[in-house]
Amino acid sequence: MHKVVSDFSKTVVVPEEGIRLASEPEPKVREKYINELDKVLITKGCLDARIKGLAREIANGFAGVDEITCVVVLKGGMFFAADLIRVLDEQSKLRTRLDFIKCSSYGDRSYSSGSVQMCQLDNIEGENILLIEDIVDTGGTLRVLQNYLKEKGKNFKTCVLLDKGVASGIELDFIGFRIPRVFVGGYGLDYAGKYRGLPEIVVIKKELLK
Ligand code: PRP
Repeated sequence: MHKVVSDFSKTVVVPEEGIRLASEPEPKVREKYINELDKVLITKGCLDARIKGLAREIANGFAGVDEITCVVVLKGGMFFAADLIRVLDEQSKLRTRLDFIKCSSYGDRSYSSGSVQMCQLDNIEGENILLIEDIVDTGGTLRVLQNYLKEKGKNFKTCVLLDKGVASGIELDFIGFRIPRVFVGGYGLDYAGKYRGLPEIVVIKKELLK
């Protein structure tokens, strides 16, 4: 049974069994993915609720600042960033700009290659930067990005949706959920290019991973 969560004002710790809102039914894996996915870990309702909480934390974290440049890490951060930035603009005094950076290190595997391929972004020299990333696993991607971006922005902060709590040596200013050490997909995250379009975070069956 999924744990029912009602407080989304701070990082939500997700247990192995997953979480849902009281108003949501017990979540089930969609029929077409029944042989590939173990379970729904975080429901759409919980993602939406936590994004509102994150937007409040970010607005407080950038108190006194008029405008931030949101640098979205592609491809995985796309859905999270799209929702977060719209809530930020709707509910806070911050103005937002949008930029992208593309990083990749997993390819079609379930483990990091250790080498992060990065594509250059627009000129963001001297701007207030919010780096938006979907997940921190080994921390290899964020380490490279933070080293690169810290020097450029005058005020640099990092927001991640999911953190497995295993990476060391990186600073996370805003964390959506702390999750167990399982391989997840959905809501922008993939395994070998699949599952990005799912509106919830799901756990991929271990036997499928290579
Ligand atoms: C995934 C994810 C993060 C990174 C996290 O990207 O989107 O960027 O891995 O893992 P790490 O903390 O071990 O570095 P991936 O390389 O799969 O590219 P993608 O976003 O295009 O799927």
